[in-house]
Amino acid sequence: MSDNSQLFWGAAISAAQTESACDVDGKGLSIWDEFCSKKQGYIYKQSTIKNKDHMKDSCDFYYHYKEDILLLKKIGFKHFRFSIAWTRVMPDGINVNPLGVDFYKDVIDFCHENEIVPWVTLYHWDLPIELEKKGGWINREIIEWFTQYATFCVKTFSTVENWILINEPSVFLGAGYLFGIHAPGKKSFDGFLAATHHVMLSIGEAYRRLKNEFPDKSIGSSFSFTHIEPAGHKEKDYKAAELADKLVNRMFFEPLIGHGYPLGDVKKLNQITKFFKKGDEEKLITDLDFYGLQTYTREVFKHNPFNPFLKLKHVPADERTIDLTAMNWEMHAESIYKTIMKVHAYNLNRPIVVTENGAAFNDQVVLDRVNDFSRIHYFQTHINEVLRAKSDGADVKGYFAWSLLDNFEWAEGYYPRFGLIYVDFKTKKRLMKESAHWFRRFLSSQLKY
Ligand code: NOJ
Repeated sequence: MSDNSQLFWGAAISAAQTESACDVDGKGLSIWDEFCSKKQGYIYKQSTIKNKDHMKDSCDFYYHYKEDILLLKKIGFKHFRFSIAWTRVMPDGINVNPLGVDFYKDVIDFCHENEIVPWVTLYHWDLPIELEKKGGWINREIIEWFTQYATFCVKTFSTVENWILINEPSVFLGAGYLFGIHAPGKKSFDGFLAATHHVMLSIGEAYRRLKNEFPDKSIGSSFSFTHIEPAGHKEKDYKAAELADKLVNRMFFEPLIGHGYPLGDVKKLNQITKFFKKGDEEKLITDLDFYGLQTYTREVFKHNPFNPFLKLKHVPADERTIDLTAMNWEMHAESIYKTIMKVHAYNLNRPIVVTENGAAFNDQVVLDRVNDFSRIHYFQTHINEVLRAKSDGADVKGYFAWSLLDNFEWAEGYYPRFGLIYVDFKTKKRLMKESAHWFRRFLSSQLKY
């Protein structure tokens, strides 16, 4: 591998996927707690999560955080990305819960004691159910709710320098508001457009207010970028791929960098302007301190005359290749190079941080080992591509592996294991996989060069 001494290395998790302890010490319920629930509730109707898995049965990071941070350190990472559960610090989204605050203070202090740099995500999809009852992201008031929550956290957890505002808007908005497969399980095109606009405005508003009050903090946000290719060489397939790129990538990024929503001639998307108020165009423009980029795979699209309003068709990876992860995602390392170079080409003059990258497999423990060689191959090839992008001029500052721990993979439940560390979800026992040992060797070899 080429020279990587300029890059920092870390591993990432999120609260809803790892903490468990969903209703202890004053924590309020989030839309995901309820979405997993077996009992009928405000948004819950019928579980759509594979095997009816529940996030409360995940890693118990709430009780094991010291062990997990020490494992991260043992692997040789110097940076740790985790998220704050809004409902732990503010059970109803507004009022503070001191015990929840104490928990994150402890986690942050423990990071510092171990010379680990915390990178804290403020919103990783677990909206307080009490805010959902008021409309959640569809209600424009959320811009203020989120900004106040963000300001409280940055002020309270004052030793944290690096903040990530909102994780992967495209994914939680698409899956949660359009396709209904993530919490809050909604399927409304108008709702999706309103929520999208409010998420984008929330990033802008929170950024401005935080920078005003805490100018020295580094405030960025994380975006899902999937590399998109046409299925064939026909002009129509190129058009389909271009449109898909707008829908899955550009729509959730370009408004923030001053390009507006890439609506083009798609009439339906143009309806987003219904939710505009005076001055919104300017409010969307946000000069974030860094751009968090998350690429896992590539997707392929082709022209489809039978699709009434978009005229495109997604060609699933399992129809194209056998090089698949447990998510049925294609292993395609060049994709991360391409997406980094694409963000680089916007000339934003801001660093890029790979805030997630990794692969899930159906790992098994055999004689106290997890021989996850496919994951090692995935990391080797993807890290090579990240370094290639860096040597080709992209200002990539750091890389976070997803994930430190096996965890709750949203609608997919516990089957896809993303961790460098295997978690036995029954006993909560942790075991470093071979990929964690590979990372340890990789990170220690760096020091010599
Ligand atoms: C991105 C999300 O941020 C994370 O929560 C998820 O587990 C990974 N992708 C893998 O799907």
